[in-house]
Amino acid sequence: MSETLANLLQENRRFEPPAALADAANVKADAYEEASADRLAFWAKQAQRLDWAREWDQVLDWSNPPFAKWFVGGELNVAYNCLDRHVAAGKGDKVAIHWEGEPGDTRTLTYADLHALTCQAANALTELGVRAGDRVAIYLPMIPEAAVAMLACARIGATHSVVFGGFSADALSGRIQDASAKVVITADGGYRRGKPSGLKTIVDEAVAQCPTIEHVLVVRRTGQDVAWGERDLWWHETVETASTEHEAQPFDAEHPLFILYTSGTTAKPKGILHTTGGYLTQASYTHHAVFDLKPETDVYWCTADIGWVTGHSYIVYGPLSNGATQVMYEGTPDTPHKGRFWDIVDKYGVTILYTAPTLIRTMMKWGDEFPAAANLSSLRVLGSVGEPINPEAWMWYRKNIGHDNTPVVDTWWQTETGAIMISPLPGVTAAKPGSAMRPLPGISADVVDDEGNSVPNGGGGFLVLREPWPSMLRTIWGDDQRFVDTYWSRFQGMYFAGDGAKKDDDGDLWLLGRVDDVMLVSGHNISTTEVESALVSHPSVAEAAVVGATDPTTGQAIVAFTIPRGSVDTEGEAGEALIKELRDHVAKTLGPIAKPRQIMLVAELPKTRSGKIMRRLLRDVAEHRSLGDVTTLQDSTVMDLISDGMKSAKSDDE
Ligand code: WT7
Repeated sequence: MSETLANLLQENRRFEPPAALADAANVKADAYEEASADRLAFWAKQAQRLDWAREWDQVLDWSNPPFAKWFVGGELNVAYNCLDRHVAAGKGDKVAIHWEGEPGDTRTLTYADLHALTCQAANALTELGVRAGDRVAIYLPMIPEAAVAMLACARIGATHSVVFGGFSADALSGRIQDASAKVVITADGGYRRGKPSGLKTIVDEAVAQCPTIEHVLVVRRTGQDVAWGERDLWWHETVETASTEHEAQPFDAEHPLFILYTSGTTAKPKGILHTTGGYLTQASYTHHAVFDLKPETDVYWCTADIGWVTGHSYIVYGPLSNGATQVMYEGTPDTPHKGRFWDIVDKYGVTILYTAPTLIRTMMKWGDEFPAAANLSSLRVLGSVGEPINPEAWMWYRKNIGHDNTPVVDTWWQTETGAIMISPLPGVTAAKPGSAMRPLPGISADVVDDEGNSVPNGGGGFLVLREPWPSMLRTIWGDDQRFVDTYWSRFQGMYFAGDGAKKDDDGDLWLLGRVDDVMLVSGHNISTTEVESALVSHPSVAEAAVVGATDPTTGQAIVAFTIPRGSVDTEGEAGEALIKELRDHVAKTLGPIAKPRQIMLVAELPKTRSGKIMRRLLRDVAEHRSLGDVTTLQDSTVMDLISDGMKSAKSDDE
């Protein structure tokens, strides 16, 4: 039988945890044994991290798969767990958020401050007629009010739907309509790349199509002029004048906490529904375990936007339920200069940093001098999420950001999984660059072939989850059938993640990108990730995107778009020589089957708003134009095609 997905890349480097970190780690190796001995007892124990108003009667009800119920009969309030209990424990003066605006303005919010503001927002929303079970849309920049708005909804049992502030009016109105939201919380604007961007104008356009919206609550951030209508209310006149007293009511463990839309490739966005008790349990536990958070001493920073699930689970619910002190940054990494992130780490003494491979590769491209100019010695754990991290990007991150001794945790999960599923534990795992390693304690992941059989070590195939987990999505909002069809129909009794993966000889897991992107070259299924990693392992390459383009001889042929590192000469013959060298380098690293037919040197790659490479668009570029054999940076045709494609892709909302 032919292999489901080829395993080409070999990686033998391993990095043991630093001894001191391992000795003091929050979670040690015994957690794996404990969880495998009794998975439900393990999760019940982790649920005790939270304060429950009523204990559950049953840990898991899986009698009607794939519709799970966790902590059945339990009751709790999410905002109480993130705020009130810390204040009650005497931690009201502890800093919750060090906020840094892009222009350089700052705010410091303690747990008491965040609690008071959240109570005010809860009172204001109640006053506006929002009740438990109603939906509230949140369309805000990265300002503390974004977290407050989410927590206020959670506090009164309203289901929030956060829409990323970079989305268009059409995308926003589609999401508002799908969820029949009653209220939108937005701002006049926010700062991006040194300029105020407008949000309220986009909301006005969106809300014109949304009859369910009764009120628009507007935070004043930039002070820019905004049009004003009947349903508009200023946050400072509504929320900030409300009472700071509010008693949180408990909600059922399965009460809907939030909807978050994931844009599929072409289809209508899916409203991923998460509920209360299981979600908070796993967000809290994984934040404690994977980042080894010590709330009294750590300063944690997740660079994601609150509009993505990473922001939900690892800016708001995980860190705040754990009483963390964190940094929140409004803007872009190169404003006013390319060292902004490292200045922030230096300024606040950040100890734990969680970011994305796209950002790491961008920093590699910009050059080592930017991190070198800041003092990064406070860092002790580094995390990565969002895409496979190429081994060389992992090495660069550890060396240049983590002074060659911090663990790097590559965390695999999805909007649908709600929280981290596969990751090293920083005090336990001897991590391999580029591997997400093992499922966390209490999680069962596997790699299967076309027929759903587990592949042996050394084999590749489809990533699946074999058992339900506490923070799993409960359904797609309003479409149970689509939930069943999308995730539970490909393989009997297993959750299909849509990602390719392989097990190495030790059984450790390597994520290989979306299965839709796998290339079929002369009968071999080759992952884009492995070819990209081989390219990035060449010292002249900062970033690469690979696609399979139709080819008369091989079925599909490998076409690579490659961004050289800042210092590399790509003029004329030097560029042509580099392209030849890179093709040979890939053939040598992965074998001749993986040698790209064509490599183009480019200045930028098209990315979605969350930073994932838009391979669909690159496939169009590779297929629909007769490009020369050699395309160096001096040839602008490719860049023009990419930027034209970007414009139309963004306008139809990815
Ligand atoms: C998809 C989910 C999870 C929060 C951010 C993205 C890819 C995510 C990794 C990783 C390889 C990864 C997968 C996954 N992905 N993390 N560590 N290694 N791939 O959430 O937008 O729902 O995307 O991102 O393809 O299925 P999302």
